[in-house]
Amino acid sequence: MWGGRFSEPPSEALWRFTVDHSDRRLLADDITGSLAHVAMLGETGILEAEAVAAITGGLESIGEEADAGKFAFVASDEDVHSAVERRLFELIGEVAGQLHTGRSRNDQVALDIRLYLRRAAAERVADLAAFGSLMAELSDTVGEAVVPSYTHVQQAQPIRLGRHLLAYGWMAARDAERFGDLIKRLNVSPLGAGAVAGSGLPIDPSITAATLGFTRPFDNSLDAVGSRDLVSEYAFCCAQAMTHLSRLAEDIVLWSTSEFGWITLDDAYATGSSAMPQKKNPDIAELTRGKAAAVAADLATLLGIQKGTPLAYNRDLQEDKRAVFHADDTLATALPALGGLLASARFHPPEPDDRTVALDVAEALVKKGVPFREAHEAIGRLVAGLEGDSLSSADAEELSSAHPLLEASDVPTVIEAADRGTTLADESARLRETCQTLTG
Ligand code: ARG
Repeated sequence: MWGGRFSEPPSEALWRFTVDHSDRRLLADDITGSLAHVAMLGETGILEAEAVAAITGGLESIGEEADAGKFAFVASDEDVHSAVERRLFELIGEVAGQLHTGRSRNDQVALDIRLYLRRAAAERVADLAAFGSLMAELSDTVGEAVVPSYTHVQQAQPIRLGRHLLAYGWMAARDAERFGDLIKRLNVSPLGAGAVAGSGLPIDPSITAATLGFTRPFDNSLDAVGSRDLVSEYAFCCAQAMTHLSRLAEDIVLWSTSEFGWITLDDAYATGSSAMPQKKNPDIAELTRGKAAAVAADLATLLGIQKGTPLAYNRDLQEDKRAVFHADDTLATALPALGGLLASARFHPPEPDDRTVALDVAEALVKKGVPFREAHEAIGRLVAGLEGDSLSSADAEELSSAHPLLEASDVPTVIEAADRGTTLADESARLRETCQTLTG
């Protein structure tokens, strides 16, 4: 493809180090982009109709090979773009040499990655919205149970289990929204920017932009071929979503211990030990935590390859694909695994310690006109004096010695204390609606 200037073939060491097969999954998008490009070359009169027809036919055949999984890469293909062009020569002969008119692999790869990520982003919106809806569904089915909320992994205030699940649902909804928002920025076509400063031929980037469903063509050719912020933003969307899943995974690991005893995992979503016959392990959750680290590293990789590259294209940028595909694949496989684990788990959380109503007791005093700080102090003393016994076990004397205005009726049950604010059903309905809107 670029041999004219060279008198020797590339060394094996160069080839092994510089060729990266991770762009092969851009094959279909590369063909789509080339079809749009050649049509534009015809429309603008840069290529003859016959050449356009021959190239279009050849690209369509390559597309069929790709769809059938029969496209064969060869060792001398430097990347997916050169592979398609090589195959086009094999199929239609010398006329294939006109396809790359007014184009560079630099704007070509910038186009391909946008086409790929635009589609992938729409898939992640759907996956994350489905995950959010699953949290709403779980809240409706198992969410009534009263459990402690936690701060510092210490029992805090009583809540319905559904609140805890819905919290993750709202995170997933925002993660979905982030991917959706990114689609707007991905929807600008870089094709026509050429290698760096466009082409002297009368190409029309607005034609290819429209054909490929972009809202408009690029504004600046250096920016179009040299920027990868949308790729790192995509990785950020993955990393943030994986980070949320990782927190949920950590909760699942805790919940499934015999010490917590909140959930029993379905056999199909748990793993065993090769040594200890009794073990049933939450590997999906643990790997979600572990893989979240690798996705955060993908984001770091993407920022790193941009920060030191002067404008515009540098080969460093080729490393973007491996990182972003890894990030996307990880999120795409984590969601159904963790979703399936939760949907099939049995929830049986024990009730919270009734000292989790201590704040409610203090607030009962506030309602009687006691300043909050004084009420806090009094209930703190009461709890300390009970030495681990429940608040409901305190008799009238213990209560009044903690504070003269304190009575047994000021101590709610954990169930009474768990129900405040909007009802659980209202919240889950709102989450469900939010998730539906995201995909609608
Ligand atoms: N394989 C390259 C990449 O992914 C395509 C662009 C190559 N451009 C170049 N000037 N060598 O970045």
